[in-house]
Amino acid sequence: MFFDLKELSTVERQYYLQHIIVPRPICFASTIDKEGNVNLSPFSFFNLFSSNPPIVIFSPVRRVRDNTTKHTLHNVMEVPEVVINIVSFDMVQQVSLASCDYPKGVDEFLKAGFTKQPATMVKPPMVKESKAKLECKVVEIKELGTEAGAGNLVICEVLCVHLDESVLTAGKKIDPAKFQHVARLGGDWYCKVSPENSFKVEKPNTKLGVGIDALPMSIRHSHFLTGNHLGQLANVFELPFIDPSFEDEHLKNIVQYYSLNPEDMEKELHLYAARLLNEGKVKEAWQVLLAAENNV
Ligand SMILES: Cc1cc2nc3c(=O)[nH]c(=O)nc-3n(C[C@H](O)[C@H](O)[C@H](O)COP(=O)(O)O)c2cc1C
Repeated sequence: MFFDLKELSTVERQYYLQHIIVPRPICFASTIDKEGNVNLSPFSFFNLFSSNPPIVIFSPVRRVRDNTTKHTLHNVMEVPEVVINIVSFDMVQQVSLASCDYPKGVDEFLKAGFTKQPATMVKPPMVKESKAKLECKVVEIKELGTEAGAGNLVICEVLCVHLDESVLTAGKKIDPAKFQHVARLGGDWYCKVSPENSFKVEKPNTKLGVGIDALPMSIRHSHFLTGNHLGQLANVFELPFIDPSFEDEHLKNIVQYYSLNPEDMEKELHLYAARLLNEGKVKEAWQVLLAAENNV
């Protein structure tokens, strides 16, 4: 399927982009107007863009149905300050409730049942229940258009952060399993960060990976290794050599059992390497694949 965005209606454009660009973190923005009326609304057009200076951006969009703009935008134009409360699983239903289009002056803290906590450097209050709160100064508002659906980038400098002790490890690091961040998917769907759906991808910081184009042909064109497997193998700084001290019973058994059938031996060794890679055992997988190269 291919589409030129110019040929789509605003509703269709919004549908596809919001379902494709996922998951999006959620900024639960607390703002205040000149009269002191507080507003609290969630925005998933949100991310971190710089750490020095510390800049985050969220975007209240012109409503697609009637091209009106949002109270949050009006507030940051009047009082250029915001507290960005980060959303975790235990508060997501209340956060969704706060997104109702309540009339101006209605306090979403009360409607959604959140507790106000005074901020230290800005006027809008923080959401006590949030596990991370960023007190921000709005440094610029960039209007992206005047048609329905147009965003307004609220560019915020983070002044200070409040982190709940309950999400910290003993070493004062953030434990994602304790935080349980929530992100927005398309439509009514959300996802939760949990140990079951989190995994590590090793990234060499100083040394360059050899690259998939440098892998031996038999590995690169293997029917049993996926793109993820090749990515792991090609992340080594230099192609490994056979390590004579490498001992592996299963490897030995495969080589012995299939000694008269090189094609099956290669298949079994590649399948075994794939299994090792799935377990993050890159060094071991390389030794199995080098044995395959050597024996087949
Ligand atoms: C999880 C979630 C994320 C949302 N993200 C956005 C967004 O990025 N931009 C936007 O304009 N509206 C977004 N909305 C809708 C606004 O929260 C909603 O329009 C809200 O009522 C605006 O309130 P306000 O007029 O009081 O500022 C989102 C709603 C939810 C539930």
